[in-house]
Amino acid sequence: MAADEEVVGTVKDQLAKLFEESLRVTVPDQTDTDPLIAACNPRFGDYQCNNAMSLWTKIKGTGSAFTGPQPVGQAIMTNLPRSEMIESCSIAGPGFVNVKLSRQWIAKSIQKMLIKGIETWSPKLRVKRAVVDFSSPNIAKEMHVGHLRSTIIGDTLARMLEFSNVEVLRRNHVGDWGTQVSISVCLRVCMHIYVSVYLFVSSDLACINIIVRVLVMDKCSSTYSKVLVYCILGNKVVKVSSVKHWYTVPDNGAFYKASKQRFDSDPGFKERAQQAVVSLQGGKEKYRKAWSQICEISRKGYEKVYQRLGIVLEEKGESFYNPYIPGVLEELGKKGLIEESEGARVIFIEGKKYPFIVVKSDGGFNYASTDLTALWYRLNEEKAEWMIYVTDVGQREHFEMLFTAAKRAGWLPPGDNSYPKANHVGFGLVLGEDGKRFRTRSTEVVKLVDLLDEAKSRCKAALVERGKAEEWTEEELEQTAEAVGYGAVKYADLKNNRLTNYTFNFDQMLNDQGNTAVYLLYAHARICSIIRKSGKDVEELKKTGALVLEHPNERALGLHLLQFAEIVEEACTNLLPNVLLWGQRRRQADSCCVKRLQRSCGNASIYLVFGQSTRYDILGEDSSHLQKDFDNYVWAHDYRYYA
Ligand code: ARG
Repeated sequence: MAADEEVVGTVKDQLAKLFEESLRVTVPDQTDTDPLIAACNPRFGDYQCNNAMSLWTKIKGTGSAFTGPQPVGQAIMTNLPRSEMIESCSIAGPGFVNVKLSRQWIAKSIQKMLIKGIETWSPKLRVKRAVVDFSSPNIAKEMHVGHLRSTIIGDTLARMLEFSNVEVLRRNHVGDWGTQVSISVCLRVCMHIYVSVYLFVSSDLACINIIVRVLVMDKCSSTYSKVLVYCILGNKVVKVSSVKHWYTVPDNGAFYKASKQRFDSDPGFKERAQQAVVSLQGGKEKYRKAWSQICEISRKGYEKVYQRLGIVLEEKGESFYNPYIPGVLEELGKKGLIEESEGARVIFIEGKKYPFIVVKSDGGFNYASTDLTALWYRLNEEKAEWMIYVTDVGQREHFEMLFTAAKRAGWLPPGDNSYPKANHVGFGLVLGEDGKRFRTRSTEVVKLVDLLDEAKSRCKAALVERGKAEEWTEEELEQTAEAVGYGAVKYADLKNNRLTNYTFNFDQMLNDQGNTAVYLLYAHARICSIIRKSGKDVEELKKTGALVLEHPNERALGLHLLQFAEIVEEACTNLLPNVLLWGQRRRQADSCCVKRLQRSCGNASIYLVFGQSTRYDILGEDSSHLQKDFDNYVWAHDYRYYA
C-alpha cells in the first residue's frame, strides 16, 4: 500500500468512529465506553449500535437526565454527526440504533475499492508479527489425516494473517527428538546389509535377468526386512527398482513400525533404543548420522505433500530448541515455578490433576520442556506478538498448561485479550462413513498422500467421462484434476467450524451441487463467462463507470462486497477460517448475486475482482490459472443453464 494511501478501515470501523463522536456528546462522563457496532437483521437496517442498554445500567440512579435505555438510544441517534455514509436511522427495542447505509455511498466505496485494489481493504490488525505453528508431523512416521487438518487450517490462518499485513513465521515444529525417533535411529545404527546377485540367461539368449536380493539384518541377526529388486536386460535395460532406490526413498512409516514392534516385544532392543536417546542427545557421531538420514528421508516425504498443496513452511523442529532448554528452565527455576515431584521436575498448575513435567525422572527433556523453550524463543528471539498452535483438540490440556506457565513466568500478560498472546487452535477428528475415526480397511491410519491421490484420480475420471481427454492435453487434464481434487479436500475441511469432527466423504466433497470447492470454482467460472460475454472491460469500468446500484439485489451485492474486510477480520480474530466461507447469510446473498449478475453484466466484474477470486486466493487456490480450464469444464458440463 502506498504511504499516502488513506486507511479506510472496515464499514464497522467507519461507523464506530461516528458513534464514538456521538457517545462523547451523549454521555460525556463515560469516557471508557467504546461503540458496540454489529451487522443487523436486514429487515431493520444494515448495522446497529448496541450501547444504550449497557450505558443505561451504568448511569441509572446516578442523577442522569435519561429515563431509560430507549431515550439513551434516541440521544445517541440524535447526536450522530452528519455523514454521507448514512441514509437513515431508526430506534428499535430498548434503544438499539439501526443504521441504513446510503446506496450512493456504497456505490462510491465499491468504485474506490475497484480502483485502489483489494489490498487497501485488508483489515488492520493489532499485531505486526505472528508465529503459526502448524502441520508439525513426527519424523520417522507417516503423515496422516490428522496432520492434514493441521496443515490445511494452519496454512489458511497464515494466509488470512498475511493478507491482513501481518508478518507470519510459518513454523513446522516437527517431532524430530526423543524416544520415538531414537527407536528408528537405533535400528538403523544396528543394521547389517547382505546383498546377493543372481544371473539368469533365458534359453533363447534373448535376455538376461538379474535378481538382486537384499537382506537387512540388525545385530541380533533377525531379519526385519527383505527387498527383492529385479532388473531385466534385453535390447534395453529396464530398471524396475534398485538397491540405491530403496535407500533414498524408503518407507519411513514402515521402518518406524518395524522398529516399534521390536521395541515393544524385545526388552534387549528396548534398552538399546533408550540408550540410543542418550547417545543421540550426547552427540555421538554414528547416531547423529543415522538421525539426520532418517530426518532427511521424512522431510522429502513431507515436502512432496506440501508441494502438492501449495504450502510453504519453515522447519524448526523440536531438536532446534534443545540447546536453549537448560537456560530457559534455569530462568523458570529462579522464578520459583519449578518444583521436585517423584524424581521429576514439574510446574504445578492450579486446577489441573497432573503437573506440567519439564524434566523427566531420568533427567531427560520432553515435549513440554521443548514447547516452553520454543515459546520463549518465539517471544524473545523472534519477537513475535502472537503465537498460534494448530493441533487436534486432544492437546488442549498441554497448551493450557503451557500458556498458564508462561503467564506465571511473566512472559505473557494475564488475561486473554492483550498482546503478546498465545492461542491453541484445536480441531476435531476426521471420521469415516461409519462415524468412527477414519481408517483404512486394514485399520491402519489413512496416509495423506493416498487421499490426495484418490481425490485427483476421481476428478480425472470424471473429466475423462465428460470427454475432456479428447479436447485437452494430458497436462491440462492433470492440472485440472489436481486443482479440483486438492481444492475439494481443502474446502471440505475448512467449511466446517474446525472444532467439529468431520466425515471424510469423496462423493460429497466432489459434488458440484453442494457447498463444495467444485461449486465455488463453478460459480467463479460462470462469472468469468458472464463477464467475457458481456464484452465489458474492467479497466474501462475503473475509468468511466459511475456505479449505480438500482436493484435491491445490486445494493445487497455492493454491501456484501464492502463487508469483505470485516469478514476477514472476524475470521482472523477468532481464528476461524470457516467464517470466510459461505455462511448461511452470505450464501443467500451470493446466490441472488449470481442471478442478478446474469442480467447486469457491468457489475459482474466487480464481483469477480473482489468477491470469489479474492476469497479463493486466500484459500490458496490460484484461480487465474484455473480460469481457462474451468470455463471449459463448466461450460461443457452444464451449458444449457447459463448460456
Ligand atoms: N508433533 C506434534 C504432533 O504430531 C505436533 C506439534 C505441535 N506444535 C507444538 N509446538 N507442540 O502431535
